Amino acid sequence: MSQYQFDKWVDLYADRASELKSSAVRDLLSVTSRPDVISLAGGLPYTKGLREEKIVAAAKEMMRLEGNAALQYGPSEGHIGLKKLIVDIMAAEGVVVDQGEIIITDGSQQGLDLVAKVFVDPGDTIIVEAPSYVGALNAFSGYQPNFESVPLDRHGIIVEELEKKLKSLAKKGRRAKYLYLVPNFHNPAGVTLSMARRKKILKLAQDYELLIVEDNPYGRLRFEGKPIPSLRAMDENIIYLGTFSKIFSPGVRLGWLIAPTPILEKVIFGKQSANLCTSSFTQRLVEYFFNTNDINKYLDKLVSRYRSRCEIMLKSLEEYFPKEASWTKPQGGFFVWAKLPEFIDTTEMLAEAISKKVAYVPGRAFYADGKGQNFMRLAFCYPEEEEIGEGIKRLAGVVKNQISLYHSVADRLNKKSK
Ligand SMILES: Cc1ncc(COP(=O)(O)O)c(C=O)c1O
Repeated sequence: MSQYQFDKWVDLYADRASELKSSAVRDLLSVTSRPDVISLAGGLPYTKGLREEKIVAAAKEMMRLEGNAALQYGPSEGHIGLKKLIVDIMAAEGVVVDQGEIIITDGSQQGLDLVAKVFVDPGDTIIVEAPSYVGALNAFSGYQPNFESVPLDRHGIIVEELEKKLKSLAKKGRRAKYLYLVPNFHNPAGVTLSMARRKKILKLAQDYELLIVEDNPYGRLRFEGKPIPSLRAMDENIIYLGTFSKIFSPGVRLGWLIAPTPILEKVIFGKQSANLCTSSFTQRLVEYFFNTNDINKYLDKLVSRYRSRCEIMLKSLEEYFPKEASWTKPQGGFFVWAKLPEFIDTTEMLAEAISKKVAYVPGRAFYADGKGQNFMRLAFCYPEEEEIGEGIKRLAGVVKNQISLYHSVADRLNKKSK
């Protein structure tokens, strides 16, 4: 079918269809998968460390024991064996949770969609960080909310700004449906919410009856510093999203959502209407894999891999990037967030970067309020070590070129006006 087919159904679409957007990150994947381009764009987890024969062995054993169930529909809330495993994973993170408080989702992305489906009517307010995970913004946008953005710094969301926002909403008689947060190794900012701020946020949540959605895909991938308890570990009135995508494989499309029972009930109904249930096959496969392999040993290897890649990226940024730029120093996860001078538009700069065979994600994609034009997300999770240094070197050349171009134009304009 032609890509440019005339859309004769345009009068039929629901209003919300105009809010459904493609993610800037997914759009970039087609360009960045070209072998000659070094991609610092996609946050692709490293999966090559998963040994094929071990996956096959787990799949064989699982099929021998439970083959029929694995090929059948399952409960909407998820397979009990996998939920037991999630209870243990959460316990290791200091969260005491019961199987009955968990629903398995198709990745945490489905969790995000279900939360908005259950809570958001058109025009309702959602508070998000600025910047925020683009996939969450896109999932929520489909339900036509009013986004209120609160800035973050290197310690996470700025609590004083959050309080101001809550006060001004209250003054207008408005109550936010929820606050969406990625407290650990933020996507895209790479920063982690400090313990002091976590406590203050929980206090604000109480004072303003604010529901918090805590999205924690990277929490287990800490390569520096001490773990900080999740918000859910400190308060049960929170919606928590987890995923196997970053600790195992995004290909199995398995995540989970933890919520107080009344909320969970609604989410389960939402899930039923969305896709009946998550794959019975992959749920059992992951259950068997985790129960027959030392996953902590694998995770330790994975974390040390991400640590060394992050170190290389930070060292290369120091070495090659101009002094006008600054960037975050993550203690885990996948991303460094770089800030360039305000006169640079990273969306416009991308074409030049790709012509120099390097890619990143422009900052604007991560802002609900259209800001972020001089930021970019740099992912260190996927490229090989030697590619990271070379990629940053190429990108530094592009940034320096933009800076000198700006200064030469500014000089010329100055001379003319004299
Ligand atoms: C913050 C955050 N939330 C959710 C997701 C979705 O992950 P998945 O659906 O693979 O679990 C991602 C993926 O990159 C993410 O970075």
